[in-house]
Amino acid sequence: MERTFIMIKPDGVQRGLVGEVIHRFETKGFTLVGLKLMQVSKELAEQHYDVHKERPFFGSLVKFIVSSPVVAMVWEGDGVVASARNIIGATNPLAAAPGTIRGDYGVSVGRNLIHGSDAIETAQREISLWFSDQELVSWEPTM
Ligand code: CMP
Repeated sequence: MERTFIMIKPDGVQRGLVGEVIHRFETKGFTLVGLKLMQVSKELAEQHYDVHKERPFFGSLVKFIVSSPVVAMVWEGDGVVASARNIIGATNPLAAAPGTIRGDYGVSVGRNLIHGSDAIETAQREISLWFSDQELVSWEPTM
C-alpha cells in the first residue's frame, strides 16, 4: 500500500493547525500509520532537504525547521502521495488554491506550514529517514 511522509512545520504547529491538518487527511479517507512530535536536529533537517542544498534559501530553511517542534506523520492509502500534494496545495501559499491547506492558511513560501513528499520514491526515502520500522503501525480500518 502506498505511503507518504507529511511534516507539519514549526509555523503550522505554532499556529495550532495540527488538528486541522490531521482532520483533513482523516476525513479524506487516508490511514495514519505513524505520528510523532519532535525537535528536529540540524543533521536530519539537512538530510531531509539535501536536494535543495545548493539553493540560496537552504540555510534559512534548515534554521527554520530546527527552530521549534514539528509533527512528522506517515499516511497510507491508494494514491496518497499525489492526493496529499493536492490537499496541501502549491509550494507558494499565495499561488495555492483556496481549499488547500496552504491556500487557506499561508501567505509565505518560507512559512508554508507543511511538507509532503513529491513522489513515491521520495516518500520512501523520507519515511525511512524520519521513522524506524518499529514506529510505523500497519493496520486496516474495519468500520
Ligand atoms: P517544502 O515542500 O518543505 O520543500 C522545500 C521548501 O523550501 C518549501 O516547502 C519551502 O518552504 C522552501 N522554499 C522554497 N522556495 C523558497 C524560497 N524562495 N525562499 C524560502 N524558502 C523556500
